Amino acid sequence: MNDTPLALGEARTETLEHGLALILESWRGFDRARSYQPPIAEHIRTLLDQGLPQSGIGPHAALDEVSEILDESLAHSRPRFFGYVGSSGLELGVLADALAGSHDINLAASAAAADLVERQTLRWVGDLVGYPAAWGTFTSGGMLSNLTALTAARERAQPGCRIDGCDGRGVVYASVEAHSSVERAVEVLGLGRRALRPIEIDAARRMRPDALAAAIDRDIAEGLRPVAVVATAGTTLTGAVDPIRAVAEVCAAHGVWLHVDGAYGLPAAATASARHLFDGLELADSAALDGHKWLFVPKACGVLLVRNRADLEAAFSHDAPYIPEIEFGEHPVEWTLEYSRPFRALKLWLALRAHGAEAFREAIEHDLELARLVADLVRSADDLELLTEPALSIVPFRHVPSRGDPDAHNRRLVGALQRDGRVYVTGAVVDGRWCLRPCIVNYRTSADDARALVDVVREVGRRIESEE
Ligand SMILES: Cc1ncc(COP(=O)(O)O)c(C=O)c1O
Repeated sequence: MNDTPLALGEARTETLEHGLALILESWRGFDRARSYQPPIAEHIRTLLDQGLPQSGIGPHAALDEVSEILDESLAHSRPRFFGYVGSSGLELGVLADALAGSHDINLAASAAAADLVERQTLRWVGDLVGYPAAWGTFTSGGMLSNLTALTAARERAQPGCRIDGCDGRGVVYASVEAHSSVERAVEVLGLGRRALRPIEIDAARRMRPDALAAAIDRDIAEGLRPVAVVATAGTTLTGAVDPIRAVAEVCAAHGVWLHVDGAYGLPAAATASARHLFDGLELADSAALDGHKWLFVPKACGVLLVRNRADLEAAFSHDAPYIPEIEFGEHPVEWTLEYSRPFRALKLWLALRAHGAEAFREAIEHDLELARLVADLVRSADDLELLTEPALSIVPFRHVPSRGDPDAHNRRLVGALQRDGRVYVTGAVVDGRWCLRPCIVNYRTSADDARALVDVVREVGRRIESEE
């Protein structure tokens, strides 16, 4: 054993055992819902206000502090976390992250077997959701996947624009309910936010292909250049899936890149009950999904799949004197944005290898069933209102007070529920109406948890109503 100041030395085995014991304790804690969210203890606040420690307290004591900090943080892994688009912190994913971190491989330059794992996992994810991926890349998530795809689309639409800059004629199309990461990508790419065309949606909140075609025709007539259409496969607000085949036909007729943003919803394409919603997916030039959402592994594990490797290389390949010659291996930095690329694929590879695809299909299907259960419970309660039928696993609904303004009431209800702590739900505004927007993407969530969500909402809703 060496004697560098940072080596754990003789404490190594005990430190690892202590770390493992804490992980096991947290996993056991996630098996069941807890009755409240502990507030941040005063001594933790004091600790987190301290300056740089010049000498350490030792690994055991510091790990104990970490354990308490985590306990007083919002864990998406808990079965009654219904906020935003959560996840699960899949146990094997946690172990893969620990092992990958130990080896600290960088997948920007060629990294031997790790490269093969990344490529195989991309193919597996493509097979799982029914997308014929020729190539792709792991990213930090939907934001970076959308940015990467749109960078490639921009270069295809205006070859050489990465060198000459944008000529101000490029436009991008997405439904009015697309994720704001699309807007941000368009800004970052220098197309300007005004170049994003928000396309109207139908009664099921899906992009209208006729409105899309009309917008593209209008822009072409004005001398503008369509760069890409982003179809959302599972909107963040309600889970709606744009009609991919019809959108793809519009794209093909106009020679426009089709990117499918399935950061949240695309894993549902692996299930028997939801597969039909993703019809036409194979026609897309690129498709994104987040392993750290509905494939349950810990953050971050974004996946971007493309039909044509050359599209990514045209957008990202470059010469740098410090990147070794290509004959020593292929370097992902030639088709990706990042120079420090953690081994994100490993957690998905390990999980798929150990559990098999069928277990994933069942877990996603289970979440879809729970969403239908929540919708049924909401429909049968006289003081609840369902705002949209769940296309996937998001169920926007609200508590209906017997008097007063339902928007103000539901806005207050979100805060009251978060303080109550038995369930964690975030709010949303659908067609100007405030509501709760539970999203079920956790393999630990059970039918009891789904029922508890509805019961707690009604109880807390009635309580704050009596105080209003
Ligand atoms: C449809 C959609 N796209 C993109 C994103 C952004 O993904 P990330 O947070 O992984 O960057 C989200 C996040 O919820 C999303 O729901």
